[in-house]
Amino acid sequence: MIKVIKVKDQVEGGKKALEIFSEAKNNGVRVFGLATGSTPVTTYEQLVKSDLDFSNDISVNLDEYVGLSKDNPQSYAYYMHEHLFKHKPFKHSYLPNGMAKDSSLECQRYNQILEDNHVGLQLLGIGRNGHIGFNEPGTDINEKTHRVALTPSTIEANARFFEDENEVPKYAYSMGIGSIMNADAILLEAFGKKKAQAVKAMIDGEVTPDVPASILQKHPNVTVIVDEEAGGLLD
Ligand code: F6R
Repeated sequence: MIKVIKVKDQVEGGKKALEIFSEAKNNGVRVFGLATGSTPVTTYEQLVKSDLDFSNDISVNLDEYVGLSKDNPQSYAYYMHEHLFKHKPFKHSYLPNGMAKDSSLECQRYNQILEDNHVGLQLLGIGRNGHIGFNEPGTDINEKTHRVALTPSTIEANARFFEDENEVPKYAYSMGIGSIMNADAILLEAFGKKKAQAVKAMIDGEVTPDVPASILQKHPNVTVIVDEEAGGLLD
């Protein structure tokens, strides 16, 4: 079941998300699945400003670029440190290791982490093509952590963070749709006009691997926060 919360803008969205994180903590959630990108920035701002204490909690991130170390400002580890962890440390924060030598061992390692740390609340953004994590259209819905070849549209969307599009990594590690669906509760945020089509397809379209986020219709506890633009095509 997908519950939709409409907010005015991304700042209001971050405030709503903070309420949902607080409630989860009050309900005993101790493992938080986290995302990167521009969408959760206001959520992390709100978490940082809040009095929530994560020092006994665990975080597991959705994904990381292959080939970027945690010291690379474009890596997701760096992003998480800057936006959240240096202000609000967790007891343990896990991300896939972009520098791992053996990608199948890295996927196994991450799957074990996810098995040992069952996610209570998973935060997600959505790609313009309906991807969640880096699960691009066509991904097997049962997949666990895997190494993904990024699509041209995702590479192009990410290019804004790099000086040259050729520097944008072509592969990433990502939790699979199967891993994401394992979370007890999911909070997906979407802001801006560019997300409107994907949001519509996720909520009102058929469940299809062509729109990976549409599988969330099968999850028992999903909340979607949209601003006026991203929710603009919803009834
Ligand atoms: C990020 C992630 C991606 C993004 C999505 C939207 O960890 O897994 O699925 O959530 O690409 O990105 P933004 O928020 O930059 O529009």
